[in-house]
Amino acid sequence: MRVTTIGASLALGTLMFAGGALADAGPFSQKQAEDGKTKFNNHCAQCHRPNLAGGTGPALTGDEFKKKWAGKPVAELRTFIHEKMPQTAPGSLGDDQIDPIVAFVLSKNGVQPGDKDLTKDSASAQFPK
Ligand code: HEC
Repeated sequence: MRVTTIGASLALGTLMFAGGALADAGPFSQKQAEDGKTKFNNHCAQCHRPNLAGGTGPALTGDEFKKKWAGKPVAELRTFIHEKMPQTAPGSLGDDQIDPIVAFVLSKNGVQPGDKDLTKDSASAQFPK
């Protein structure tokens, strides 16, 4: 009986962790974010600056940006970028470009890397508040 109870609470703990906030471990890997840095510099930095502080386009870090996206699924940010950016050629980048770029943007907003790459399907996790 006792063993069953422990088993159940362990399973619940795992479930809660899987659905938990990104603050623990982000839905992207360190390697993916590093790859995204190069891609960001190629496709986004001309308007958002390499440090994401903003230029022609708004800043992609800092309080304003976080306030806008905090608590929403990362997928919303991913879809926005996929459909609207780069502003001069929206929709021109495939998943293999978008996923690392989103990973890089998350890493620049203080989200810690995890051990799996971000994909379209894993992007349902929340952007941290
Ligand atoms: C030619 C300039 C330009 C390029 C290149 C560009 N952007 Fe933008 N971006 C903008 C402008 C201008 C806005 C503000 C208007 C809007 O939101 O549509 C914007 C808005 C954004 C936003 C929303 C910001 C917010 O406050 O929520 C995100 C996220 C973003 N861009 C990401 C990217 C990414 C990632 C890339 C590269 C794939 C990229 N942008 C490339 C000009 C650009």
